[in-house]
Amino acid sequence: MAQISDVEPHRYTQIDVIPLAGALGAEVRGVDISGGVDDYLLAEIHRAWLDHHVIYFRDQNLTPDQHVAFAMRFGGIHLHLFNKSLDGHPEITEMLKTPEETVNNGDVWHSDQMYTPKPAKGTMLYGREIPPYGGDTMFANLYLAYEALSEGLKNTLAGLKGVNNGDTKNNATGMSRMDRVNAGLPQIPQVDPGDAQTISIHPLVRTHPETGRKALYLGYHTDRIDGWSSEESKPLLSYLDEHAHRPEFTCRMRWEKDTLTFWDNRCTQHFAVNDYTGYQRRIHKVMIQGDTPI
Ligand code: SIN
Repeated sequence: MAQISDVEPHRYTQIDVIPLAGALGAEVRGVDISGGVDDYLLAEIHRAWLDHHVIYFRDQNLTPDQHVAFAMRFGGIHLHLFNKSLDGHPEITEMLKTPEETVNNGDVWHSDQMYTPKPAKGTMLYGREIPPYGGDTMFANLYLAYEALSEGLKNTLAGLKGVNNGDTKNNATGMSRMDRVNAGLPQIPQVDPGDAQTISIHPLVRTHPETGRKALYLGYHTDRIDGWSSEESKPLLSYLDEHAHRPEFTCRMRWEKDTLTFWDNRCTQHFAVNDYTGYQRRIHKVMIQGDTPI
């Protein structure tokens, strides 16, 4: 049976950290990002991020430049390979769903950019227009998912790698990204990634470079196990995929306008809930560069 991790909680002196759920997620209070974040405050925010894996700050008042500048305190910017950036802000992807659209971006359990050789370590989303209800983002704690597995399955997974594919994998429309663009379907505007690597092989269990903890590492983009056929891979990947977001490993974040949410892709999956058709949702997304998963 899954156990909530026994990692020591840290004390915070400059911020209040209010857990959202037993598994992960916390609201951080006492920070005005636009007012400037000194190195001590940054260190506490970083600690809270590592402890809770997804943190969020309400009532922030951020220009796109301030959003990018705050993200850059945690590392260089990871540019999305497919999503066209916001005019004048190459670091930002605008995720807009209009009231007329029914297709939603991100309503599959995934970890950002795992099809790239060095996936984004963190993602920072800022809510610019939020529906009156719905449009929450769900998160799953992949440390807990790993820790809950039997020793037998952990041993089986050691050394296995997932093949993660960013494009040709079918989505709900049954089409690849560029097929959807060419068919004029509504979605985030896409660009051709050119020669960039869009298929990457990473361990199914990765060790977090900052905490040293092991986490499952798979998601929507994981097509098959390296060296296995798709048919052979499917039963194990399906089991792990279902297991990874069992309710007790998850939390659900309710958006408000001007909420900034920051999650760790190295130990979480997320899922954008598509339950607000008829309303507009507009979110700005910035990602932070990560390492080669090991
Ligand atoms: C994503 O980054 O996958 C989208 C998350 C969201 O819009 O809630």
